[in-house]
Amino acid sequence: MSEFHSMPALIGPSLLACDMSNMASESQKVLDAGADYLHLDVMDGHFVPNLTFGAPVISCLRKNVAPNVILDVHLMVTDPGKWIDDMAAAGANIFTFHTEISNDNDIIKSIIEKVKSKGMKVGLAIKPNTPVEILFPFLDIIDQALVMTVEPGFGGQKFMHDMMPKVSTLRKRCPNMNIQVDGGLALDTIDIASKAGANMIVAGSAVFKGSPVDVISQMKSSISKHGNGR
Ligand code: DX5
Ligand code: ZN
Repeated sequence: MSEFHSMPALIGPSLLACDMSNMASESQKVLDAGADYLHLDVMDGHFVPNLTFGAPVISCLRKNVAPNVILDVHLMVTDPGKWIDDMAAAGANIFTFHTEISNDNDIIKSIIEKVKSKGMKVGLAIKPNTPVEILFPFLDIIDQALVMTVEPGFGGQKFMHDMMPKVSTLRKRCPNMNIQVDGGLALDTIDIASKAGANMIVAGSAVFKGSPVDVISQMKSSISKHGNGR
C-alpha cells in the first residue's frame, strides 16, 4: 500500500560521501545530474561520534554554487542554537536539528522560531530510537521532518526498514509537508521509502559511488509512481 501525496520528489545528495577536497566540483556534478538540493552533514563529535565541517566550509560552498542552489544543513550537534546565526550568514537555506538535544518543548520551539527569524526553513529530525510522536507538537511550525533511517554519524550504513511506519504516520497527518529520509537510501531501498510517503530523499553513497544521473532519475521516478500515484 502506498501513502499518496502531492509533494514534489526532491533528491539531495549528501556531500559526506563526496571527495571533500573538491566539494564545489562534486556539488556541480550532482546538480548537473539532476539533484534538487545539497545535503550538508554537520557533526560535532559529541552528539554523534564523528566530526565533519561547519559554517566556514558552507560559506565557501555557497560562494561557489549558483545562488538558487538549496543548501540543506543537517546539524548533528548538541547545541544547535549556537550555530543559527553562523549558518544563516553562511547562506544555509534549511536548518535541520535533532529533537534529542532537549526534553523541553519550549527549548525546541525557541530554536525553531529563531531559525525562522533568520530567514531559513526549519527541519526537525529524529534518530532511530526516538518515537515519531515526539515530533507531533511541532508539526504545525516546521517546514520539514527528517526521519533518520540509520543511526546518525556515518555514511554507507544499512537502511533501517523498520523506520517506515514513522514515515507513514507523518504522511497521514501531514499530506502537504516535506518528509525527508536519510541513511542507506539507494536503488534497492527507494521504493519502500516512496511507498511510506517520503518525498525528500538524502542519498550519499548511492549517488557518489554510482551513476548520479541514473540514481537521481530512478529515485524521482519511484516517488512519482509510489508517492504521487503516476
Ligand atoms: C548520516 C548522515 C547522512 C549520510 C547518508 O549521519 O546524516 O546524511 O551522509 O549517507 P548514505 O546515503 O551513504 O547512507
Ligand atoms: Zn544527514
